[in-house]
Amino acid sequence: MTQNSNQRDGFSGRLGIIAAAAGSAIGLGNIWKFPYITGEYGGAAFILVYLICIAFIGLPIMLAEFVVGRRAQKNAIGAFKAEAPGSKWFLTGALGIITAFILLSFYGVVSGWTLHYLGLSALNSLADQTPEQLGNVFGTFIADPWLPVLWQVLFMALCVAVVLGGVKNGIERYSKILMPLLLVILIVLAIRSLTLPGAAKGIEFLFSPDFSKLNMEAVLAAMGHAFFSLSLGMGTMITYGSYIGKQENLGVTAVQVSVADTVIALIAGLAIFPAVFAFGIEPSSGPGLVFITLPNVFGQMPFGTGFSMLFFALLAVAALTSAISILEVIVAYLDEEFGWKRKTSTLVVAGMVTLVGALLSQGNGILSWLKLPFLISGEVSHMNIFDWFISLSDQLLPIGGFFIALFVGWKLDKKAVADELSNDGKLTIAYLAAYRITLKLIAPAAIAFVFLASIFGWFSP
Ligand code: PFF
Repeated sequence: MTQNSNQRDGFSGRLGIIAAAAGSAIGLGNIWKFPYITGEYGGAAFILVYLICIAFIGLPIMLAEFVVGRRAQKNAIGAFKAEAPGSKWFLTGALGIITAFILLSFYGVVSGWTLHYLGLSALNSLADQTPEQLGNVFGTFIADPWLPVLWQVLFMALCVAVVLGGVKNGIERYSKILMPLLLVILIVLAIRSLTLPGAAKGIEFLFSPDFSKLNMEAVLAAMGHAFFSLSLGMGTMITYGSYIGKQENLGVTAVQVSVADTVIALIAGLAIFPAVFAFGIEPSSGPGLVFITLPNVFGQMPFGTGFSMLFFALLAVAALTSAISILEVIVAYLDEEFGWKRKTSTLVVAGMVTLVGALLSQGNGILSWLKLPFLISGEVSHMNIFDWFISLSDQLLPIGGFFIALFVGWKLDKKAVADELSNDGKLTIAYLAAYRITLKLIAPAAIAFVFLASIFGWFSP
């Protein structure tokens, strides 16, 4: 990215934008996190709340981020400075940069796990194992002081290589080909999983809601995950929005990205839960769920080893296209605001993130005794540093989103927003009035309510 906005690197057209923004949205959030939190919070009712959050909070905020980014043609902090000079709004961007750092530190670790599983698949060492054995494989691996770090370092090095390539040659080129391939393999997996004996219980788990299991903590998790999954609340879509061409329809783009992201998560659910029940795995197994369940499914397929390798390779790529979008938030900021060279900023940021991530990884092993306090449901619970960072990001993203909604809803010039959405009047935007109310009131009020209610434990039994 150059400092001169006339020469800004950008996406090359419709498909490029969708692929890159969807590449950011679709990642570990869809295939690793969505299934395991759905399992922890009881299934269908949680999914329903998640879908509501996507439609009424996530989608409008994605559009808001696009508006800010494309209008300002700047990074997450620079955009607020340009649109509201002399005000404190830039702090929203600053929070985003901090959140990006926190998020990428654990994201890199989990991404490394997928590479390890790619290796295990290639060596055929996941074959013919019971769910218990696979659980042990996972538990022993993440507790190891070195192995996860090794893979994390490799993954972060891949990120650096792509980000150094710049937007068009790096980020875009990879997303375009590999994301559709991931969709295909997920569909194949879902078909296999759905046709396993005993799969019906999984379908019931996914689609017949039991609201008695839903509490405010689950609602916060659903909302936090809507932000996480759509890459919102920390300026990623502001930064990517700044690379979107002036002739693109932002509303349509936001809808397409949100739908693609949601569809992938649901298909991942269909690939995993029928199998979870068919193999008698505990749905609330936590972060290991995907890594324990899917190898069993591969074991029941012709060419299972090949599928397993392909799956973990594509999962790593999905993680890569998301991780680079997180890295890009910080890199674009340093380049544009401080005139850093792209190479310097990328290497420095990735290096620091990797160090912090390597430390967090020890929370699953030698530092598992170290517990940090976390306020949820009106009580202070304690978790290891790895889980603590994940939970923290679930709270930081909605806070960021809250301020972005308020910024576009109340602060940004009304006409500017309308111009940006309509491409200076070239498009008819029938949704404008509803959109304004959503950003001004509905989304911020919903976020504030869920946030406070879950933290202070209102309505909890
Ligand atoms: N959306 C990504 C996923 O679902 O894996 C994670 C992510 C990327 C979160 C970028 C936030 C972000 F800004």
